[in-house]
Amino acid sequence: MKTILVAGGAGYIGSHMVALLVEKGYDVVVVDNLCTGHWQAVRGAKLRVGDVRDAAFLDRVFTDDPIDGVINFAAYSLVGESVTDPLKYYGNNLAGAQSMLTAMKNHKVNKIVFSSTAATYGEPEKQPIEETDRTDPTNPYGASKLAIEGMLKWCDRAYGIRYAALRYFNAAGSNTAVGIGEDHSPETHLIPLVLKTALGQQAHIGIFGDDYPTADGTCIRDYIHVRDLAEAHLLALEYLDRGGESGPFNLGSGDGFSVKEIIDTARKVTGKPIPAKVEPRRAGDPSILIASNQKARQVLGWVPHRGLEEIISDAWTWHQSHPQGYGK
Ligand code: UFG
Repeated sequence: MKTILVAGGAGYIGSHMVALLVEKGYDVVVVDNLCTGHWQAVRGAKLRVGDVRDAAFLDRVFTDDPIDGVINFAAYSLVGESVTDPLKYYGNNLAGAQSMLTAMKNHKVNKIVFSSTAATYGEPEKQPIEETDRTDPTNPYGASKLAIEGMLKWCDRAYGIRYAALRYFNAAGSNTAVGIGEDHSPETHLIPLVLKTALGQQAHIGIFGDDYPTADGTCIRDYIHVRDLAEAHLLALEYLDRGGESGPFNLGSGDGFSVKEIIDTARKVTGKPIPAKVEPRRAGDPSILIASNQKARQVLGWVPHRGLEEIISDAWTWHQSHPQGYGK
């Protein structure tokens, strides 16, 4: 494997994937329509601006470079927006995956690492969550990703395109060496909003509910460093290249932290007071999501190395040096 196509490589997780591949000596072709991604985040790779749903464009991309494997991040990913506009999510996410798989079939590329999500599980039956647990998404974003996992399964059987569907828990952190980080508009995620509060860009961080059945009443999530996530994608690609069997893999640390614990850790890391206020619950938030990462450890040989303080500290380095994100 030499040349890897990264769709959505100008986005948050995608750009960290590109940085890792470049560091490891791969040739990287990025496809991104830049509707949410940032060209400034693509370092050391060929950027082809276009839409994965555009079959003719994708055909040119596969013709111009000898693509050996695909990592697909291109998707809409806002849970709240997916509830108010489900067709946008089904339309883009499913059509994009279908278009990518069609190009792969036509060009005889038989390996894909696909961004899936913990949102495929919905309200979990138990903790930690295993890949064999029930999948029952509670929003169209998770449903669109689960539908694509189904598409991948049937394409494996029919065309021999093998896949790893990586179900991310809560990605955070940055690559301080390369100088890339998280820049969403609007930002909805906890850690960047806590750090924007530390920078004085908002008066306080809202805690969405403190009456959940957890020790301090706030929601518990499994935060994973974006660099650890990128490493898992590379291991998954190498696993598929060795002939590994297709399937889903959870990517989480296996540890859970409450919203209050995140804010307290951020206060410690930044030395800032970070005012917080309890606000009503956000619709659709499960109380606890913690990954079992046993399968990724055993099958892929993945070991997440970076803990919560490092995640927040790396994110803080990014937000301090890029208070307005990219290029503003
Ligand atoms: N939260 C707050 N205040 C905020 C923002 C978030 O209290 O201002 C809370 C949320 O209620 C939640 C936790 O912080 O309990 C984490 O929220 P995020 O929005 O950072 O992340 P989510 O767990 O909601 O979402 C993540 C991914 C999604 C994925 C989902 C799976 O970002 O892409 O996990 O459930 F779909």
